[in-house]
Parts: sequence; structure tokens; C-alpha cells
Amino acid sequence: MKRAIITSALPYANGEIHLGHVASTYLPADITTRFLKMAGTEAYYICASDDYGTPILIQAEKEKMTPEEYVKIWNKRDYEDFTAFGIGFDFFYRTSSPENVVFVQDTFKKLMENGHIYEQEIIQFYCKFDKKFLPDRYVVGRCPYCKAEEQYSDLCEKCGRVPQEIEDPKCSICKNPPTKEKTKHYFFKLKNFVNELNQWLEADSHLQKDVKKYVQNWIKDGLVDWDITRDITWGVPIPLEEAKGQVFYGWFDNHLAYISSALKFLDSKGINGKEFWNSSDIYHFIGKDIVYHHYLFLPAMRFGIKKEYKLPDYIPTRGHLMLQSKKISKSRNWYIGLKDFLQNYPADYLRFYLTMITPYSQDDLNFDWDEFAARINSELIGNIGNFVNRALGFTKKSTGGIIPSADNLDPADLEAQGKIKNLAGEITPLMEENHLDRALKKILEFSAHFNQYFQKKEPWKGGPGTNNCIFISVNAVHSIAVSLFPFLPESSQKIWSQLGLSGKVSEQKWSSMSDLLVQKGHTLGEPSPLFKKVEAADIQAHKSKLGQ
Ligand code: MF3
Ligand code: ZN
Repeated sequence: MKRAIITSALPYANGEIHLGHVASTYLPADITTRFLKMAGTEAYYICASDDYGTPILIQAEKEKMTPEEYVKIWNKRDYEDFTAFGIGFDFFYRTSSPENVVFVQDTFKKLMENGHIYEQEIIQFYCKFDKKFLPDRYVVGRCPYCKAEEQYSDLCEKCGRVPQEIEDPKCSICKNPPTKEKTKHYFFKLKNFVNELNQWLEADSHLQKDVKKYVQNWIKDGLVDWDITRDITWGVPIPLEEAKGQVFYGWFDNHLAYISSALKFLDSKGINGKEFWNSSDIYHFIGKDIVYHHYLFLPAMRFGIKKEYKLPDYIPTRGHLMLQSKKISKSRNWYIGLKDFLQNYPADYLRFYLTMITPYSQDDLNFDWDEFAARINSELIGNIGNFVNRALGFTKKSTGGIIPSADNLDPADLEAQGKIKNLAGEITPLMEENHLDRALKKILEFSAHFNQYFQKKEPWKGGPGTNNCIFISVNAVHSIAVSLFPFLPESSQKIWSQLGLSGKVSEQKWSSMSDLLVQKGHTLGEPSPLFKKVEAADIQAHKSKLGQ
């Protein structure tokens, strides 16, 4: 049996999941996992909350909680929101787990033994009043490039650049100017891996071509070693006597939780985790903002421990979601929370729309309320919902829901039957190559064909071709139920029940979408409309809420 481990970028445990997160990362990963499972792969979807880092510590301090208490709240809330959206993690853990702490410390020791770590004294901002070092977001000041005030020392949100040294620095806690102190930091020698990284990127693989080019150029420009140390209390402690009070930088420990969480989960199932990992296809789904970390830092660290855990086979990388053509920003309140959205519309509406607009590329996407309404009403409801309801409703009315036999197929019947037989062959390669949007569009084309077929055959006139039309149409509904499952699990299961079939769609074989499995004499369940129209007045209200 083929094996796969699927992960998606770990969400920071400091705020709610919004549409921007799910479009590029969690939804494509979930669809892929569901597909792989049906296609007979032993696949597991592993995720975790990303608990460490300065922003989280600062936020916890602001809300007068310990960081442990604070991340626990978000870990639980994120998991609930994902679940409501139909994201079916096999395991959702956290980077602050005891297993990850041990795993990260062991990895560090191995990197050290292999000569990939060195120490260096650096100058760091320090606050005499708060008595602490001030890494990253603990310092605010003026951006040296665009002169924007109140920017973090590790990132200017105005111009997007990383300041070498912020002007007029202030401690973000007490607003006093910091002093500069010496501190000893550990660095990871990214430069050691230039050859291995280049070979890995040049090899014929499933990695995205356009992303590889990008990364190869970065390597050409020269890599810089990574400072993996932070002088704060919240993080994985550096396991050395002389590094007391220092922790690892969040990007040193977080991606290792892909592995440590997978091991924990697999071990709990009595599976040898390491053996499973190394015999699996490894997928890391990400958004394009973290390409650097996943195409350089992550593989270099795996090379650094001599590929004890294999490198990713797929790093599907997608663009950013815009909202009404403007950049999503939480601080400017320009975003839609996942939980909020799901209070208004079923998860499958959002899964449908986002999949349709999200290609397998780094291009940015755009969530547009009017387009959402139009696509749900005309494509999901007008095409798929309409065909399913028409075919099942008509059968119920004319035969009491009992499937008649088919014989003497005419050319239109044969053509329709051929569409069913070819469906799996058409969609499967697209799913395997990550073109989920194109696969879903094929299902829509399939359904559109059957709407026309039904219309042309006019079974309501009761002519000689009626039984064939019913038999073939009901089987097409079955094909739709199976093929839609990875995309719209809830609706697909509803169709399954209306077909009067037992068991779950998730337990069906992927290729069975191309079999005419609904046989004569079978009795359908109760047909009823699958979807409810999106109302223009509601869309207007959602836009007004955004101030539009
Ligand atoms: N929390 C990070 C972010 O949102 C992603 C971490 S992905 C991991 O940008 F690989 F590092 F875990
Ligand atoms: Zn201070």
C-alpha cells in the first residue's frame, strides 16, 4: 500500500483562522488527503499550532496570561474552527508539546555534532527597565527605508522590508530607549548546504518549477547563516549549560513539529513512525510567504541530520488571498474570520468557491462577495444541485424510486455512459498533480453534460428511451457523489444518502466513480434540494459590514 504524510503550515497560536489561511493551505491539503485515502493510499493529515515566538509572548503578556494558558486557548479554538470547515486532520498537536521539545533539542545536538552550528557574540537591544533582551517585535521605531513610525525591528509593515537597524528604537513594553548589550548566539550554517540544496532543487521532482527558480536565485545571491537563538523565556530551551535562559528561534523548532507530531500519532497507532515517514510521500502545503523557510531552512536541517527523516516530495505553494481586491490585514480589520463565515453559509459553499478560484501557482487570489454569490448560485446550485435533484426527483416521481433496467442504448445514451467510464481517468491525474481547481471544473463539465442529456431525452414524455435515461442519469449522480467527496464532503454524503446507498462515501474506492454501480431494482432514498440560494440582500449586508 502506498503511504503519505500531509501537513499544512502550522497556524500561529495567536489569533483566529480567517479565509486567507484556509484558501492556500488547509483546504488544498484536506482535499488532497481525502483524495489519497479514497485512492487507496495510507495517508495521514498532521497539523499543530505554532506556539512559540516573540509575538505570542508579547500578546500573552498584554492579555495578562501565561504564554502556556494563552496558546492553549488558540490551539483549541483553531481546531474547532477547522473542524467546522470540514478540515479532517488525523492529528492536531502543538509545537510546545514535550515530544517536540525533546525532538528539537536532539536535532540541535546532532547538527552540532555534525559541525553545522557555531557560536558568535552579537549586540542586541536590551531594556534596563524591564530587565530583558529585546528581540524582534520587542523593539519599535522608524523604518530606515520608508521612514514609517512605530514599526517592528524585524519587519516594516508599511514597505515590507526588514530593517538592518531601526531608527529611534524604543522598548515596545515601556517605550524607553533600549541600550545595547552583548549576548552569545548560536548560528545554523545554512551556507554548508549550498551544494546539497542545489542538487535537490535541480533533480527531477514534484517541486513546483516556478518556485524552484526563485529559490535557486536566492542561493546564487548567497545564503546567510541563521541566528537560531532568542534571549526570551518562551521557546524550546537550548540544551546546553552555557545557554541557560536562551531558547530557539521559532522557525528552528516549528517545522520540526511536522515530524514530531507525526511520530507521536503513528506511534499511538502502533506504527513505526520513522519507518513510515521514510517510506511515505511527504507533502508540506504552504503559502508563498514562507517559501524561504520550506525550500531552504527545512531541507537544510534535514540534510544536516543526514536525512534521518526524508525531505519533502511535494511543497505545494499557493498565493495570498485578497479580500474585495485589497490585501487582507487583521490589524486594519480587513478580513473575514472562518467562524463568522460559517455562521452564514455552509462549509461546502466556501470550499467550492475557494477551490474554484485557487490555481496551483503562486498567483494571488481574490475573494469577492458578488462572485461568491454568482458562482454558488449558477455553478454549484444551477449546475450540480439542479442535475442531482432533477434526476433523483424525476425517478422518485415516475418509478417510485426503483431503478429500471437499461437496454437498446441510443447514441446519446452511449455517449453519456462513456462520460461516466472516462471520469476517473480524466480527474485523477489532475488530483495527483495538485490541479484541484481544474479537477473540480471537470466535475462541473460532467454535470453540465448530464443536464443537457436529461433535457434532450425528455424522459417526462414517457417515450421509449425513458428507462435508459433514468438508469444512466442516476448512475451519473453516483459518479458525482464519489468524485465530489474530497471537495464537498458533506454534500457528497447527502447525495449518497439520497441515492439510497448504504455506508459512507469516504469508504468508496475513488475509481468507482466510473462504474455503473447503481443497478436495476435498487430503490432510491428521499430526494430533496441539496443547496439553498445565496440571496443578494445578504451579500449586500456582508459588503456593508466591510464598509463597502
Ligand atoms: N506559523 C507559521 C506562519 O504562519 C508557519 C509555520 S509552518 C512550519 O507563518 F513549518 F514552520 F511549521
Ligand atoms: Zn522597556
